Amino acid sequence: MLIGVPKEIKDNEFRVGLTPASVAELTHHRHSVLVEKSAGLGSGLSDGEYVAAGATLVDAPQEIFVRAEMIVKVKEPLAAERKRLRRGQILYTYLHLAPDLAQTKDLLASGATCIAYETVTSPHGGLPLLTPMSEVAGRLAPQVGAHALEKAQGGRGVLLGGVPGVPAAEVVILGGGVSGTHAATIALGMGANVTVVDQSNEALQRLAAQLGAGVRTVYATRAAIAELVARADLVIGAVLAPGAAAPKLVTRAMLSTMKPGAVIVDIAIDQGGCCETSKPTTHSNPTYVVDGVVHYCVANMPGAVARTSTFALNNATLPFALALADKGWKQALKDDVHLRAGLNVHDGKLTCKPVAEAHGLVYTPAEDVLG
Ligand SMILES: NC(=O)c1ccc[n+]([C@@H]2O[C@H](COP(=O)([O-])OP(=O)(O)OC[C@H]3O[C@@H](n4cnc5c(N)ncnc54)[C@H](O)[C@@H]3O)[C@@H](O)[C@H]2O)c1
Repeated sequence: MLIGVPKEIKDNEFRVGLTPASVAELTHHRHSVLVEKSAGLGSGLSDGEYVAAGATLVDAPQEIFVRAEMIVKVKEPLAAERKRLRRGQILYTYLHLAPDLAQTKDLLASGATCIAYETVTSPHGGLPLLTPMSEVAGRLAPQVGAHALEKAQGGRGVLLGGVPGVPAAEVVILGGGVSGTHAATIALGMGANVTVVDQSNEALQRLAAQLGAGVRTVYATRAAIAELVARADLVIGAVLAPGAAAPKLVTRAMLSTMKPGAVIVDIAIDQGGCCETSKPTTHSNPTYVVDGVVHYCVANMPGAVARTSTFALNNATLPFALALADKGWKQALKDDVHLRAGLNVHDGKLTCKPVAEAHGLVYTPAEDVLG
């Protein structure tokens, strides 16, 4: 199969669809890979590394979209890219179609076969191509939170780990799933006092077993959250109610009980955030202050560590990319119900039920298009 990797064109997106190591795996399987010049530079991957891995460099994205049978990307295609997609072509990338009617219509009109990372499932439950980015955001959260706690950043001037004779910071993590667990691991490693709150007893049991006596686990009641938030130096929002807006666990009223200069890192901002006062921010202007509390609400946190994120994403996406290339999309999806769950659009048909429901469009089960 001829596979194409265009350079990402979304603002401040530095990740790339395939690493040179992934290209080498695909060429080892006798596939050919076209990579747009400088596509990997934002992740510290040079054109030379791609050539050494067996890729052919091309100057402009047009050639990739005209020639490639499968396009591998990171972010959803922007309008200019959508115009270039064509019938019979496979698009394998994050799509997030439910809140994006314009993109949904363009992909339907393109006739392409569009497989969304975020809806691929796993036999163990969960969403394996979303997990790596939650891991990155979770691990980044104590790091950005520690920085925001510095006086010059508007924080209360508290060192996360404290020093001998001075207590460590209190870190409260709302949600003990993927990102919450990784946030707790790093916060503990930095020497903070860490409490994780969740409404799932299974999640709390798993955390306690995994992280041991160092982490405190608390069942999520309104009263418990109010008490913990008032005491916290750093609150990390890491909840997810799949498919729904994040529950507003930290209310405006709670903010006035918090310490001046305390920090909220709201990872869940991509689902609206779990604090009433959260609104999306960017890497160039990541924080703002409400009632003396510093808010960090960057919606694409993994972009800050593009290189790590690119490698983590490739570890998850490569096995499916190989299956698609080796077997062709139809057989690969017939053989694997979890990859089949990733099919969102095929030849003008919408094959993802939640997306169809979100837009009031006709839904066609993936099984119907597979014949
Ligand atoms: N900002 C970013 O750059 C970025 C990056 C990656 C992921 N995310 C987002 O982070 C959020 C968390 O993702 P995840 O993969 O960790 O999710 P997850 O499903 O692994 O974990 C979510 C946890 O929240 C708990 N929860 C749900 N509702 C709750 C409530 N009302 N009270 C207490 N606990 C509750 C669940 O029981 C679960 O344990 C998602 O919105 C995800 O999209 C953001």
